[in-house]
Amino acid sequence: MNVTEKLLHRQKMTKEDFITLLGFSENPEIKEQLREEALRLRKKYYGTKVFTRGLIEFTNYCKNNCYYCGIRGGNRNAVRYRLSREEILACCQEGYGLGFRTFVLQGGEDPFYTDDVIASLVREIKKSYPDCALTLSIGEKSLESYRLFREAGADRYLLRHETADEEHYRQLHPDKMRLENRKRCLWNLKSLGYQVGAGMMVGSPGQSIHTLAEDLLFLQDLQPQMAGLGPFIPHHDTVFAKEPAGSVELTLYLLSLVRILLPEVLLPATTALGTLDPSGREKGLMYGANVVMPNLSPLKNRRQYELYDHKICTGEEAAECRSCLERRVNAAGFTLVSERGDAWQPAEEV
Ligand code: 5AD
Ligand code: FES
Repeated sequence: MNVTEKLLHRQKMTKEDFITLLGFSENPEIKEQLREEALRLRKKYYGTKVFTRGLIEFTNYCKNNCYYCGIRGGNRNAVRYRLSREEILACCQEGYGLGFRTFVLQGGEDPFYTDDVIASLVREIKKSYPDCALTLSIGEKSLESYRLFREAGADRYLLRHETADEEHYRQLHPDKMRLENRKRCLWNLKSLGYQVGAGMMVGSPGQSIHTLAEDLLFLQDLQPQMAGLGPFIPHHDTVFAKEPAGSVELTLYLLSLVRILLPEVLLPATTALGTLDPSGREKGLMYGANVVMPNLSPLKNRRQYELYDHKICTGEEAAECRSCLERRVNAAGFTLVSERGDAWQPAEEV
């Protein structure tokens, strides 16, 4: 059996298998074969549904200094903001009215929001919107903190691993950040019963077919319910300012590959993909993605959550983003739905 058949038959893949598969990324026939299988699987589990998440970027303060990121702590030019509890709740209220049934609280690693503050925010949102899922995306915390948030009612957690290769991880992060910690966090989150999202940028400086193969091995091992995959885009105030952006085509190939590797995965067509290519998100859906994450953050702060240059959707109201995305999703032949959009589970386990 060749590697494509191995993947299609859900055999356990080795690093060598992934390296071979990645070598086919520019082979149009194989790319199309994987795309069709990815679409078949997303239809099997999710029909034509596309789930939507209301993203609330509530702080751009960050104590970390990841070399690729525009809001890294060391960037003195970043204009910092924090949303108050009231502002965050107002975003949820607006989002609920627009049909969002998942809210994602995302921010830099900002110690201003203590664990107790986050937990009480989670409790309040879950009490006000019991029919909604709440996702946190606030970085590396202790097992105890994750437990506190989970007990407060958080349902999901997004923490991209960024790269599963040690050496590459060091190229992207200062010495005090460790891949080992990152991975431990993801396993801890899983053990607490969160729906977990891992993932990586495509085309980050130093990435190779070998590091990507490690990423795929890690995803195969972790079996996350969600996977975030978007192209790297340089930010002018980072060490990687002059580095080239990642490839849209390779991102699309990887979306199909990840859909086949983890058939029930919740896979967003990311803003970064839409930033590099005006129809990037529609293409993402055509290659196996089934989630979109429009922005619910207050308009006045949108531009400030600048992870990379030229980020789209920074000038539109939440309602505009929602209807724009609805049009795009429909144009791609799918249906934007107003549901929590949990990961698919076999009936007997529900
Ligand atoms: N280009 C693309 N994605 C980025 N992220 C951070 N900086 C960049 C960049 N320059 C991604 C990281 C992070 C997520 C919130 O945004 O993968 O986990
Ligand atoms: Fe934000 Fe189109 S999705 S403007």
